[in-house]
Amino acid sequence: MSRTERERLADLRARVAALYRANRRQGHAAWCDADYDYVCPSAETYPFQWFWDSCFHAIVLSHLDVGWAEAELRTLLRNQQPDGFVPHMTLWPAERPPDVTGPYRVAGRSPWLSASMQPPVLAEAVAAVAARGRGATYLREVLPAVRRFYEWCDRVRDPDRDGLIAIVEPHESGMDQTPAYDAYLGVAGGEPEDFEAAWRVVAESNAAAGHDTGAIIERDRFVVEDLAVNALYAANLRVLSGLLRQVGEIDAAARIDERADRTAAALLEHCWSSDDEDFHGLAGRDERRLPGGTVAGLLPIILGDLPAPIVDRIARRLEDPADFGPSHPVPSVSLSNPAYRRAPAGGTVLWRGPSWIGTNWYIARGLRRHGRAELATRIEDASLRLVERSGFREHYDAETGEGYGAKGFAWSALVLDLAEARVNERGAAPS
Ligand code: GLC
Repeated sequence: MSRTERERLADLRARVAALYRANRRQGHAAWCDADYDYVCPSAETYPFQWFWDSCFHAIVLSHLDVGWAEAELRTLLRNQQPDGFVPHMTLWPAERPPDVTGPYRVAGRSPWLSASMQPPVLAEAVAAVAARGRGATYLREVLPAVRRFYEWCDRVRDPDRDGLIAIVEPHESGMDQTPAYDAYLGVAGGEPEDFEAAWRVVAESNAAAGHDTGAIIERDRFVVEDLAVNALYAANLRVLSGLLRQVGEIDAAARIDERADRTAAALLEHCWSSDDEDFHGLAGRDERRLPGGTVAGLLPIILGDLPAPIVDRIARRLEDPADFGPSHPVPSVSLSNPAYRRAPAGGTVLWRGPSWIGTNWYIARGLRRHGRAELATRIEDASLRLVERSGFREHYDAETGEGYGAKGFAWSALVLDLAEARVNERGAAPS
């Protein structure tokens, strides 16, 4: 590594450390009589703790201060419910639960905890923290809770036992306003209030079902076997089985591997279409295929056992400037999809075009897993350029690189993990 490369990495580390210090929230929550210590996604926009953000933050923190990374995950798991569920939002610092969160986010368990899940990426976070910290000692402490969470995913969210877990409201996908759900939800337009109106119907239905997954599925108002959720679920089950092996739990690891195999096979069998060569989520009791053309359909690249022709197809789409390969990739919606918008409508409509660092992180790592180092490098470099040029923003214009949405957005610091991997594990600095 040259001196300038080393300086560039040191500069990035310093910027990330400053951001994480600014977004750190520590205190005591009277409502559950517990201390908290977490990094909020954005001081202005998102002051609470979110599930998959927190997992990404722990991965970033594992490079800065592994004790702090452990605290982030301990805080996330502090309100795990007896059945294994971990809420997608915890309103730690709120003395009274604020109205802004609305019934679709908060209800059913406690006013401070959402009744929703988010993409189940916990095992990857635990793996990063263990690897750079206390290894098997940490794993022995944390794995019982982690296993309970994945058991909940399997037992509660896969009632038809096809290996694909179901989400029951759009926020659970982590990709709130993705166009994949428009027709299914009956979204009437592209403005924030059009989504709020469509979500409210789902929220009220779920509340009427008492937030009980079985009753929600029975009502069949919004039940989706989502692509991103299931690709990340399968990938995380694989990581979990590796962690169980590290602590000698060989039988448990084998059972989790079987589950990972089943989910990966179900994605290919039920969600892949050879007609348009794209993956599709499945909606409702009769499992209707949802529209493709979103970044969720690229995320199966993270699975090591994806057939080579599908890897080729995803790589070609990422190389095509009119599809998923514009100047500042990877757009959350293909440029060839009529739903694609360069900028967020109303400033707050998400996941309809701009590029996100979280999905880039998965795609770059997936490409490397399949030996596509050159394309992975291109996406890693593009991600670093976005952050260097426009700062840590929530998402970025895929054509101009302009930053949009929340400022000081903490998961965009995942570029540090990509850069560290390049420098430390592969000996080549980002260019
Ligand atoms: C938005 C994103 C979601 C994220 C949350 C907090 O709702 O769509 O993925 O977890 O913000 O950053």
